[in-house]
Amino acid sequence: MNHFLEISQLSKQAISSLLERALYFKKSKKHPNYSTSTAASLFYENSTRTRVSFELAAQRLSIPFINLDLQTSSEIKGEAIEDTIKTLAAMGINLFVVRHSQDGLPQELANRLSALPIHLINAGDGKHAHPSQAMLDLLTISEQKGELSRLKVAILGDVRHSRVANSLQSICALFEAKLSLIAPKIWQPLAPRYGEITTDLAAGLTEADVIICLRVQKERLLENESLDLADYRRNYALTSETLRYARPDAMIMHPGPINRGIEIDSDVADGPQSYILQQVSNGVVMRMAILEALVKNTLY
Ligand code: CP
Repeated sequence: MNHFLEISQLSKQAISSLLERALYFKKSKKHPNYSTSTAASLFYENSTRTRVSFELAAQRLSIPFINLDLQTSSEIKGEAIEDTIKTLAAMGINLFVVRHSQDGLPQELANRLSALPIHLINAGDGKHAHPSQAMLDLLTISEQKGELSRLKVAILGDVRHSRVANSLQSICALFEAKLSLIAPKIWQPLAPRYGEITTDLAAGLTEADVIICLRVQKERLLENESLDLADYRRNYALTSETLRYARPDAMIMHPGPINRGIEIDSDVADGPQSYILQQVSNGVVMRMAILEALVKNTLY
């Protein structure tokens, strides 16, 4: 496969190979050199974790990495993203890490630019998918708990607007994990890819081995969706009290950035069951595995 766009396009074998390679990169001190490739990041939405970890991943594999500053690029003069990619490809850039607010844009670009010898990486498209986040989450879960197929995962919060939740549903479906989607009615997905939906926090968290708490994404709420934050906190916040519904050794995860005191309390986010910073660390090695698989054309 030329591109890394969605979990549903990957085989179980491809996912297992990425996990294996990421674990190898975690242990190994010496990394392969792919300096004949060059990468660029095109981030039309804000990011800390994803953009920096792709850059670090590229650096560790000796891949030069260009951070295109969209505020000073020709985007401001009205250049279409397609033309920006063609222009950069003409300079020899072959890996493009793209984040955009439009659902499905990376796939559209892959279709429209199929004649170019480039690899597109979806670093988050609108409310649609965030496949590298799901892969680093899978790595973090596998390291702590083993096989996903034996686990109950609970995704808590704004499932409807979450690209992270969509990609995690695809992973859980592939490995047939038990999945609970816990959300108030306004944040329930209209057509979930996988999992059981509940409005009941206690029921959803019961027996959970892994809790993935989602950010309250104020920027993605539609104008007609009223959000009473106090009401949300009362019913759905992950606190030391609500955490007791899950298994005593349940892992707490969050894709970040976290809203402390809204969807999660600080003592939970920073507590002994939290793997939030391990997720961030694993992001670098997982993204090394993704870049390598694209450069070596082993993603199938
Ligand atoms: N998880 C995630 O995508 O974080 P950033 O927005 O900081 O990249």
